[in-house]
Amino acid sequence: MSCPYMYKMKKIYLLITALTLLILFTAQTNSDDELKNHFREISLTFMEDLKSVLMKNLSEGGPLQAITVCSDTAQELTNIIGEKNNVVLRRVTFKPRNPKDTADAFEAKVLSRWHELMDEGSLDKETEYLEIVKIENESYARYMKPIFIQGPCLTCHGGENMIGGEVKNLLKEIYPDDKATGYKPGNLRGAISISQIIE
Ligand code: HEC
Repeated sequence: MSCPYMYKMKKIYLLITALTLLILFTAQTNSDDELKNHFREISLTFMEDLKSVLMKNLSEGGPLQAITVCSDTAQELTNIIGEKNNVVLRRVTFKPRNPKDTADAFEAKVLSRWHELMDEGSLDKETEYLEIVKIENESYARYMKPIFIQGPCLTCHGGENMIGGEVKNLLKEIYPDDKATGYKPGNLRGAISISQIIE
């Protein structure tokens, strides 16, 4: 007697479970997309701001002035824009000029993968990465976007013969452990890294 009824109930349960999973999955995908859009926006604005400070000083006072300004303001601007957006914002790399920009374990994992992709020729401006990471009881949204070397960067990040003597001396003075030279246009220089606690 109860068999057909049980069968029906089972079907309804299955349907409800499937629908719940679908809703959860869609909600997760949507919120991931929202986070990516939000973090991409912050990254692009930050890159624009930093580049305009750099280019303004390069054209007004040349590379020596640009280095002095950059070494004073790069970290500050990064912190200010991070705080304004309620995130932890950093520039990270395997070859830091400023040791504060050394990649942590998570960032190193993503950067390693991106260096492989660059060697295969499949890393581009659209590349980005988002992962929700749990540390103890907190969940963090961690987002990264690659930074590439362009022509104007070579004045301070290029090979031996691209960097002038005075520039070399000033860099050595401020950053005795500088590793951020020897790059060519299109090289992966590092990444913008954003971290935010989520509910
Ligand atoms: C006028 C010299 C100069 C030019 C040109 C320049 N940089 Fe830099 N770059 C610096 C200095 C100085 C630092 C260290 C800033 C600090 O102390 O935070 C730096 C740091 C960085 C960092 C942070 C990682 C690290 O090594 O500390 C990245 C990423 C970076 N530069 C990318 C670029 C890119 C991309 C370009 C071209 C669009 C560029 N830079 C052009 C001088 C320069």
